[in-house]
Amino acid sequence: MNHFLDIHTTDSADLRNIIDSAHASKAARKGFTRGAPDKEQPLADHMVALIFEKPSTRTRVSFDVGVRQMGGQTMVLSGKEMQLGHGETIADTARVLSRYVDLIMIRTFDESVLTEMAEYADVPVINGLTDRTHPCQIMADIQTFEEHRGSIKGKKVVWSGDGNNVCASFLHAAGQFGFDLTFTGPQILDPEQEFVDLARSKGATIEISRDPFEAVKDADLIVTDTWISMHDAQSARERRHNLLRPYQVNDHLMSHAKPDALFMHCLPAHRDEEATSAVMDGPHSVVFDEAENRLHAQKAIMRWCLDV
Ligand code: CP
Ligand code: NVA
Repeated sequence: MNHFLDIHTTDSADLRNIIDSAHASKAARKGFTRGAPDKEQPLADHMVALIFEKPSTRTRVSFDVGVRQMGGQTMVLSGKEMQLGHGETIADTARVLSRYVDLIMIRTFDESVLTEMAEYADVPVINGLTDRTHPCQIMADIQTFEEHRGSIKGKKVVWSGDGNNVCASFLHAAGQFGFDLTFTGPQILDPEQEFVDLARSKGATIEISRDPFEAVKDADLIVTDTWISMHDAQSARERRHNLLRPYQVNDHLMSHAKPDALFMHCLPAHRDEEATSAVMDGPHSVVFDEAENRLHAQKAIMRWCLDV
């Protein structure tokens, strides 16, 4: 069964096919209104459960719209309102849902919830973000980079800020898609060594730098994310802001990268914290293309999961 749990656990040839399929399905919808069905309806007669234990705008709407465009139906479930949030085990939840639906997407906290869901479900499970990774986002980001600049292979990506879940999936992608990644941020917020080692073992050059201006030299892409993720304690806010302020992506930092460097942010952004509005809305930014491509990339992921 094709679960989509993480980028490093998905075969690189499959990842390539998913991105190609995402480009093709986006192109095929040129001129369609948002709500119009795709010409092909591969998810006709399919029911998809979208489970959220954390808030979401993009993941929720893009999965829901994507399923409908492909002819399927969805049910959006909040973890708190399910028995899952009141003591029913993940394994039992997975077994029960598998009797009703054809595909499960889950956004949760601990990665073990996702892996246990996949272990006990008889239908494919998709990772819609955990505390550790966010693979659907990075598939959309690869699609976005390719649209603007062609192949990402051999390119230099710089992550500036917190070495969080989105950064981890970028490190997974560096190994699978063959690009180099420099992390720049305070040592205490470095990405887990496991992610760095895995990318290096697959041949990617991964560098860690404390100097953001040195780090972005020759960068083809600069990426950042919120300084406080949904799983981080709000009490850490002031300390994190103080640590991360030197890594803000602003025009001065962008000017040290390649002149045609792209800027990405998975959104939601805290404008004028991790990135200035001038960068978010400026000529390097592709943040809204990333958001749109969540739709196209996830449609391709769902088709791969269901082999339709
Ligand atoms: N980028 C992303 O996953 O956004 P949401 O939290 O709105 O789903
Ligand atoms: N790192 C952020 C990503 C949100 C899409 C979080 O986990 O809150």
